[in-house]
Amino acid sequence: MIITTKQFFKIAYSKFAVGAYNINNLEQCIGLFRGNLDSQAPFIIQISKGARDYTDKSMLEAIIRAADKLFPEAIFAVHLDHGDEETCCDCIDSGFYSSVMIDASAEEFEKNVEITKRVVDRAHEKGISVEAELGELGGVEENIAIDEKNAHLTDPNQAKEFVELTGCDSLAVAIGTSHGAYKFTGSQGLHFDRIAEIQKHLPEFPLVMHGSSSVPQEEVNRINKYGGKLEGAKGVDENDFAKAVPLGVVKVNIDTDGRLVWTAVHRKHFIENPENIDFRKPGKIFMEEYAKFIAHKNEKLGSAGRLEQVRKALSAVY
Ligand code: G3H
Ligand code: 13P
Ligand code: ZN
Repeated sequence: MIITTKQFFKIAYSKFAVGAYNINNLEQCIGLFRGNLDSQAPFIIQISKGARDYTDKSMLEAIIRAADKLFPEAIFAVHLDHGDEETCCDCIDSGFYSSVMIDASAEEFEKNVEITKRVVDRAHEKGISVEAELGELGGVEENIAIDEKNAHLTDPNQAKEFVELTGCDSLAVAIGTSHGAYKFTGSQGLHFDRIAEIQKHLPEFPLVMHGSSSVPQEEVNRINKYGGKLEGAKGVDENDFAKAVPLGVVKVNIDTDGRLVWTAVHRKHFIENPENIDFRKPGKIFMEEYAKFIAHKNEKLGSAGRLEQVRKALSAVY
């Protein structure tokens, strides 16, 4: 069952975080549904602009609709990840998406407000919620000056003003994470003081943590063992999710980790089975491993075992 992202936020705020997982293909989609059902977790499927272009936007939509029928117990939302204005409008008009993210964070504050507000107005007309972004996501190096460090992170005063001016429904905040497999060079991590400060300025407002892959070292090692080259890859400590939840983080974005599982499984399989050309064999292993990975992640997010609670909350309200 597809529900709105806003419904999730109401139910989950300060209790648990909903995993927002990017998908690009059939195997990821199946593994994702299985993993969430195995762990009885609600979830968000994220589709990036790149994913929409990979084959065609209609293909992923069809795969997700098919999975919805195949796994009728599942409760999930469908979200556009890092959209520009044009893509947001396309998703809003399509009637398929629960929510969109407008990412105008590279623009100056005023321009970001202007673009975000236009998307919010259009989305709200159709009952679709909007995630916006403020601040500069990126690993904050340990040896840079405090002022420079602060310049990368989301400013709590600005965040409050931004939400008031745009009417967005959730906010992606820069709190020390970055996208990809190389998030930190040393002992850096999440800036909990900053998240707490943002929550003080925006009480009860849903915050989104991007760049949340933990880059499991066993996957990095497996990839490197079978010919890969991912030296020094490092991610977020997954035990930090539980600390971020009471501070208002209610959606946690994970993409890179799924790519690592895919790469590790396929590298291992083809090195160990050089005669094999049947891609369904590693595909099947990947779906199983990805499902296990998702179930594990949901334990860390606190979303595991919440499906019944979400179902009850939905039926009480609607
Ligand atoms: O934050 C970006 C996501 O990891 C999506 O990546 O644009 O390569 O699909 P992508
Ligand atoms: P990772 O690169 O840490 O998986 O982050 C994904 C993300 O933020 C998608 O929006
Ligand atoms: Zn992101």
